[in-house]
Amino acid sequence: MDKPRVVVSVTTSVDGRVSLRRDRPLMPTDDGKVWETLRPPSAPGVEEARAALLERLYSPTVTLEGSGSMVPPSAGPLTGLPPASASASASAGELYEDFVAVDASRWFTVVDGRGRVRWTMKEAGGQHLLVLVSRATPAAYLAYLRREEISYLVAGTQRVDLGAAVRRMRSLLGVTCVVSTGGGELNGALLRAGLVDEIQLIVLPAAVGGSGTPGLFDGPALADGELPTRLRLLSSQTEADGTLWLRYEVVRSR
Ligand SMILES: NC(=O)c1ccc[n+]([C@@H]2O[C@H](COP(=O)([O-])OP(=O)(O)OC[C@H]3O[C@@H](n4cnc5c(N)ncnc54)[C@H](OP(=O)(O)O)[C@@H]3O)[C@@H](O)[C@H]2O)c1
Repeated sequence: MDKPRVVVSVTTSVDGRVSLRRDRPLMPTDDGKVWETLRPPSAPGVEEARAALLERLYSPTVTLEGSGSMVPPSAGPLTGLPPASASASASAGELYEDFVAVDASRWFTVVDGRGRVRWTMKEAGGQHLLVLVSRATPAAYLAYLRREEISYLVAGTQRVDLGAAVRRMRSLLGVTCVVSTGGGELNGALLRAGLVDEIQLIVLPAAVGGSGTPGLFDGPALADGELPTRLRLLSSQTEADGTLWLRYEVVRSR
């Protein structure tokens, strides 16, 4: 067993949308405030119960997010960074080696293969920042991460190879469970790569609609002959005010 368990844990509308529109993240925009109003009074307690259950079952040490939760889709790679050649700390080759700056037991991990996010914090609530990049990530961005003492793992050539990244988390950092709280593109990529083991959904009594609105699992459609992922319902909880908590595990074909 070389792969950590991967649990997708998100809050969605009844129609499987995880935000209100494609062109901007929920936070820190007004869309986040509108999303808050969709949450019945029971929702925070159910989310706490979900986190407590995950902790009890798997003691996850990685929370995984996508860059789409931090920057809008239109954002490009960070500009204005000093060139990598100005980096005193690492040679060009060394930049593309994993960089673990702290001996941490919990990680807040973000896929940012294009180098789009400018970080304002490296640690919060006991979780240390870990960025997932690829060999196509601009060298100047990797030099920036090193200067800021921000840890990163390099996996993949054109974009982040999520399978290789989670396996590296296991072998290098001892991670046995990753909880993805990302948006639809990230979770869709995890699903297509066959990495998802469990889905924890909190469903809010609201319908958002709109083609292109981020959903639970976005990304490429099924290829010819590719089959949907079958799920087994593990538990369900219904609150009187309309919050649902659904827990599924992925059925692996033999
Ligand atoms: N309701 C909820 O629980 C919830 C949770 C999270 C987010 N959201 C909302 O959802 C929206 C963001 O969703 P989104 O779908 O736009 O963004 P997203 O899920 O963050 O997707 C983009 C991320 O996925 C990575 N990615 C996509 N395809 C990939 C592939 N094939 N291989 C490797 N990496 C891949 C991208 O990597 P690169 O950066 O390397 O390109 C990027 O980091 C925001 O509005 C956010 O606020 C809601």
